[in-house]
Amino acid sequence: MGIKVFIFTFMISSLFFSLLFIPTLLTRPTNSTKFYQIKSTNNISQSLNTYPVKFAYLISASKGDLNKLKRALISLYHPNNYYLLHMDQSASKTEHQSLAKFVSSDPVFTQVGNVWVVGKPNSVTYRGPTMLATTLHAMAMLIRSCDWDWFINLSASDYPLVTQDDLIHAFSDLPRDLNFVQHSGHLGWKLSKRGKPIIVDPGLYSVNKSEIWWVIKQRALPTAFKLYTGSAWTILSRSFAEYCIWGYDNLPRTLLLYYTNFVSSPEGYFQTLICNSEGYKNTTVNHDFHYITWDVPPKQHPRSLGLRDYRRMVLSNAPFARKFKQNDLVLAKVDHELLRRRKGKFTYGGWCSKSKDKDGTCSRLSDDLGVLKPGPGSRRLKVLLTKILSERNFRRRQCR
Ligand SMILES: *[C@@H]1O[C@H](CO)[C@@H](O)[C@H](O)[C@H]1NC(C)=O
Ligand SMILES: *[C@@H]1O[C@H](CO)[C@@H](O)[C@H](O)[C@H]1NC(C)=O
Ligand SMILES: *[C@@H]1O[C@H](CO)[C@@H](O)[C@H](O)[C@H]1NC(C)=O
Ligand SMILES: *[C@@H]1O[C@H](CO)[C@@H](O)[C@H](O)[C@H]1NC(C)=O
Repeated sequence: MGIKVFIFTFMISSLFFSLLFIPTLLTRPTNSTKFYQIKSTNNISQSLNTYPVKFAYLISASKGDLNKLKRALISLYHPNNYYLLHMDQSASKTEHQSLAKFVSSDPVFTQVGNVWVVGKPNSVTYRGPTMLATTLHAMAMLIRSCDWDWFINLSASDYPLVTQDDLIHAFSDLPRDLNFVQHSGHLGWKLSKRGKPIIVDPGLYSVNKSEIWWVIKQRALPTAFKLYTGSAWTILSRSFAEYCIWGYDNLPRTLLLYYTNFVSSPEGYFQTLICNSEGYKNTTVNHDFHYITWDVPPKQHPRSLGLRDYRRMVLSNAPFARKFKQNDLVLAKVDHELLRRRKGKFTYGGWCSKSKDKDGTCSRLSDDLGVLKPGPGSRRLKVLLTKILSERNFRRRQCR
């Protein structure tokens, strides 16, 4: 009897929840509901299950970034991964619409169904907590909709230096619980310039965009936890992402509330959270996987990279670099020499290299879907991984 009642209520509630869920899967971004998703056919999903690891990307963009975003997406695209694109509220309606059109009219994206656009864009303030909120929002959406092993946060001015086959191959034998969060507990000047000031981000409550504003009074440094700072570019494990989002432990929530009034919270939230959490601090790898060069002190603004940075960029063995101006010449060199990507086509990979196109370029799914063809990029990345995971670096540079 009890079982029957249980099954009945279970059926009713599943029906109810599926009714709630279906509309969110099918709506388009212009309807300003959740996000736009296309379902892939069964055959494709079967081949995709043979890949050893999956990545979920958030690629964020702002007003005027549309072309950079498209190029970054094509160069990062792989049918095995998931891509969530966020174009913030400051972009015009035309930009939002052409992004949606770009995604929904590409035959590969629609066939595989793994590129989505955030349909209800957030207002994002530079250096404000709304930046962090956008990242957490994306993580929540990706946790809810698909299976993946690592979450990677990028912007439209980032660019890959390895193919996705290289990345998947190099990550395939790593423990899935590693989190790549560059961090340091020695805050230096940031202790008083970041830890004490109180800011308010109008993006949280105002329809019109404006800068963060500073409260005259300052606060004391925290004593309930230790502050860490580092790079805003992280690669997070599925498990840690769930820890951040689900909120079964109170630390992620408490720190989020604390960081609401902290300037440049994206450079501190994940660092402070992971290093103060007993369960996760041993999974921290102190590297952000980006090649970035900074302005002369105070090192607050990354320089734009050009051809003269190419050699050092490759020698860094990093899988990503930033930042680049739109269509900078060095990107063509990266496409040609590192990604084997032809103009307007996808980055080289087993999934597309045998497609029936006469010119042999990567523009659609081939019969080899599910096969990896890693190249020199994978070897470079493995050199970097071996170095940062070595006895000398891994534990010794963890949460110090
Ligand atoms: C799926 O694969 C089967 C055989 O493997 C084939 O007959 C069928 O046409 C494929 N369906 C699609 C949608 O590609
Ligand atoms: C927001 O900006 C628009 C256009 O600049 C202006 O017309 C409107 O009054 C502003 N709204 C508020 C609440 O300041
Ligand atoms: C995530 O990516 C965006 C790029 O648009 C960046 O500005 C932000 O600081 C990143 N990090 C976090 C933790 O949100
Ligand atoms: C983390 O590492 C430290 C030192 O190696 C160890 O004492 C501790 O038990 C580890 N914590 C977890 C949760 O594994």
